[in-house]
Amino acid sequence: MADGRELLSNVISSQMDLHRRFGGVVPEVASRRHVERITAILQEALDRAGVRLGDLSAVAVTQGPGLVGALLIGVSAAKALSFAAGIPLVAVHHIAGHIYANQLVEPLRFPLVSLVVSGGHTELIYMPAHNRFERLGKTRDDAAGEAYDKVARLLGLPYPGGPHIDRLAREGKPVYSLPRAWLDRDSLDFSFSGLKTAVGNLIRQEEKANPADVAASFQEAVVEVLTEKAIAAVKRTGVTELVLAGGVSANSGLRESLAKRCAEEGIRLRIPPPVLCTDNAAMIAAAGTYRLWDGQTAGLDLNAAANLPL
Ligand code: KG4
Ligand code: ZN
Repeated sequence: MADGRELLSNVISSQMDLHRRFGGVVPEVASRRHVERITAILQEALDRAGVRLGDLSAVAVTQGPGLVGALLIGVSAAKALSFAAGIPLVAVHHIAGHIYANQLVEPLRFPLVSLVVSGGHTELIYMPAHNRFERLGKTRDDAAGEAYDKVARLLGLPYPGGPHIDRLAREGKPVYSLPRAWLDRDSLDFSFSGLKTAVGNLIRQEEKANPADVAASFQEAVVEVLTEKAIAAVKRTGVTELVLAGGVSANSGLRESLAKRCAEEGIRLRIPPPVLCTDNAAMIAAAGTYRLWDGQTAGLDLNAAANLPL
């Protein structure tokens, strides 16, 4: 990445084939694959960008949150690179990375609200400026992507289930009424575990339920809550910019619903292209650049943090 905006290469080594065999991420399996792949991936990223190690001015790495084994491999590799090349090391929060994926398309405009929806997070974040994050709301149980993956499993769809449910939902109608967890009146928190349980009950009780209709009903319930809480967060903070981030931003129903509501409310909506929605290193480099410019570098004693606060 050059100058915090220009993407020179973005190499993704997906482990999805491996996780699919186990129906989800097995931490030990994920960490082992990281060790096996990381050196070759680093080299490929440099090659595709047409640069050498000595050309780099800094190295950014995800410090957390996440599975500590996988994080440690990235942190160790980044420290080695930083030491070998004599360049600064920058520690990035995974959610900051997801938000900064948008920076690769067009500069972020502050203040903004970001709806971060991934397999591990469902959060509403207020950003008054670069590198400043205030959490307005979060999930109290399952993340949105996690709910997608669990419901997909109930429907017998492969992991990760989000894209499969999204596709199936387009073939069905939202004929089943499923619960929406609005929580307390002013709350910007989320809850998806009740919805997942309701889908489980529905499938058990109605053996002839059409899976496409179940998927459409589930998707409608998730999307409605995500959309309305995001709009409420924008109104409460008085911003005019809503930034979507995380793997679930690839969801077609969510994109459509947010586009419609934002147009109605006069809110500018930004959604990253699908390849930058799901986990990737370019977003970490983008977020890392702004931390570097802010002088926020890390020492070689940097450690991975499974529960790193934003
Ligand atoms: O951000 P991400 O790549 O990884 C995490 O940080 O968790 O998000 C992965 C999540 C998975 O739960 C996956 O099912 C979900 O994003 N996802 C989707 C779609 N594409 C990916 N969920 C709903 N609809 C999609 N089209
Ligand atoms: Zn992610």
